[in-house]
Parts: sequence; C-alpha cells; structure tokens
Amino acid sequence: MRYIEYGAHEAQVSEVVLGLMRIWDKTPDQVYELIDTALAHGINALDTAPVYGPSEGKIGEVFAAHPGLRDRVWLQTKLGIRPHPRLDCNYFDFSYEHIIESVDASLAALKTDRIDSLLLHRPDVLMDPREVARAFNELYDQGKVVEFGVSNQNVAQESLLQNFLDFPLAANQVQLSCAFTPAFDHAFNVNTRDEAGISRDGGIFEYALLHDQAIQAWSVMQKGYFTGPFLGAEEYADMNAVLARIGEEHGVTDMAVAIAWVLRHPAKMQAIIGTTNPTRVAQSAAACDFELTREEWYEIYLAGGRRLP
Ligand SMILES: NC(=O)c1ccc[n+]([C@@H]2O[C@H](COP(=O)([O-])OP(=O)(O)OC[C@H]3O[C@@H](n4cnc5c(N)ncnc54)[C@H](OP(=O)(O)O)[C@@H]3O)[C@@H](O)[C@H]2O)c1
Repeated sequence: MRYIEYGAHEAQVSEVVLGLMRIWDKTPDQVYELIDTALAHGINALDTAPVYGPSEGKIGEVFAAHPGLRDRVWLQTKLGIRPHPRLDCNYFDFSYEHIIESVDASLAALKTDRIDSLLLHRPDVLMDPREVARAFNELYDQGKVVEFGVSNQNVAQESLLQNFLDFPLAANQVQLSCAFTPAFDHAFNVNTRDEAGISRDGGIFEYALLHDQAIQAWSVMQKGYFTGPFLGAEEYADMNAVLARIGEEHGVTDMAVAIAWVLRHPAKMQAIIGTTNPTRVAQSAAACDFELTREEWYEIYLAGGRRLP
C-alpha cells in the first residue's frame, strides 16, 4: 500500500480508501470482514456519510464489538445532504446549526469521539463561508474533527470557503474513473470548439497540486452517476480488453489497473472503492503495487472512447 500525508496534521492515510456506502444489507460481521480485510492489505481509511442510510450506525456497531478497532482506522464522514421534509428529494444545508448537529449525530452513530476528516458533501449555494468557518473552528477546538475538506466542489467554491479558513481544506472528493473523465477531458481540449473543452470544475487538479490538497475519487468502477460498473459492460468492451491485458502484464486484476489509472495523477490521489466483496477489497490494494506508464495511462483513456487533439 502507498500512503499520502493528509491535511495539516499529515496523517498517513492509504491511497485506497474503503467506501462503506453500499453496506445497506450487510450484517455487522460482514462489515467487520470488509474492514479487517482492508486493514490486512494496508487500507487504513474508511469513508462514510449520514446520507448513506445505516452506514455510520453499522460502522459504530462494528467498533463497539471490536475494541481497539476504531483507533486502527482513519475515519472520514461528510455532511450537508438532508432529506427535504415535504418533497421526495434531498436538499443541501451548510448552516452553522446543521454542521454542529450533524457532527454530533455522526459521532454518536459511529460510537467514537473523533472524526479524522469531515467533508461538506455537496455544494449548498446558500452557504455563508463565515458560518462554516465558525462551525469548523468550534469542532476543531473541541477535538471532534481533525481535518476538513469538501466534496463535489469546483475551484471557485472551494477557494471561497478557503479564504475564510485558517487551515487548508485537506481534500476535494469528486467523481472520477477511467470511464468517467470530464475533469481530464477539458484539460486536453483547451482552446478548441469541442464540447469536451468546457471546464465544469475550474481546474480542481491544478488547484489540488497548487495547495497540496488530496483528490479523492469516488465511483472508481462506475460508468457514470450510479449507472453500474464498466467492467463487463458491452459499451466499454475495448477499454475492458486493455485493462485486462495490462492487468495480465502486471500480474493484477483489471479492477486494480482501473484503480491504478485514477491514482496515476501526480496530485495526492486517493481512490474510494465501493465494493462489498472482501476478495475485491484485497485485489484493490494491488493498485498500489505498480504504477502505470504514460503510454498505458493514455491507452486506457483512448480505449474508453475519448479523443485527443
Ligand atoms: N462524495 C460523493 O458525492 C460520493 C458519491 C458516491 C459515493 N461516494 C463514496 O465513494 C465510495 C465508492 O463509490 P461506489 O460505491 O459508487 O464505488 P464503485 O467501486 O465504483 O462501485 C461499487 C459497486 O461496483 C461493484 N463492483 C466493484 N468492483 C467490481 C468489479 N470488479 N466487477 C463488477 N462489479 C464491481 C460493486 O459490487 P460488489 O459489492 O459486488 O463488489 C458495487 O456494487 C462510496 O462507498 C462512498 O463512500 C461518494
């Protein structure tokens, strides 16, 4: 496993992170097996969120049943997505009150006294950065949260918030896989009339490198927004063949190659895996046993149907 130095406190956090969004139907023993397998392969980081239903509560149950486990993992959760009381959808809330309430609820559910990293889950355009800063400072001073970051934010949004904080935003968690690449497409198509040249994130990778910020990729195995894995998907047959061939050459699975593709960028990269299968957790760790060459990285990008100028 490889590790990054995360945030101002430089915790050693694995590049592969175990995402626990999809553990809806898993028993505490099955969740423990996932975490235990991850730790056995050097994956020391867990990602969850209150909006993932029973996820935080199940992790808390596992911590309670296995004394000492909590302190062996680096624990990240998020906040700000709330079910609308009258509509059948969520809305976003970065108010001071909600931030404080949500962290206290997460600490109780997770049965811990500390969150190692807290992310604002999805942009709330009604956010007042001074309110967020006040909440963050209070949570830090109380020892409830160690590091703070954002998710799904563009550069203007995170720069605005950063301006009001006394410490760096440690991470931006965004959707990225070798099949889902808008964040890279625009960089290749600067100064063209091609639609792919439109930047929707304002250059989050450049921002991350300039500010020593981690980029955490979510849905590293998905075709699109919760549209299923690209491995085995007809429309990605060419890319999957390339992933399989490169996997054979490196002695790893096609999945590990896909994760290595995300980790290849020179920013502090982390890949959040969402599998609920312990064997796949173990295989994912192999993504850190090798590094893709530029030629391999570009071959995978092009095999996914993208074009270079
Ligand atoms: N910040 C955000 O807005 C945001 C949004 C979504 C997710 N997340 C975080 O990111 C994590 C990962 O997201 P995700 O769950 O979408 O990740 P993912 O790893 O892309 O998808 C996981 C799903 O793909 C399947 N899968 C994984 N590897 C496979 C393979 N080799 N072959 C076939 N199927 C495979 C898994 O099935 P099996 O379980 O059977 O392996 C599971 O259903 C989440 O747990 C959450 O922590 C964050």
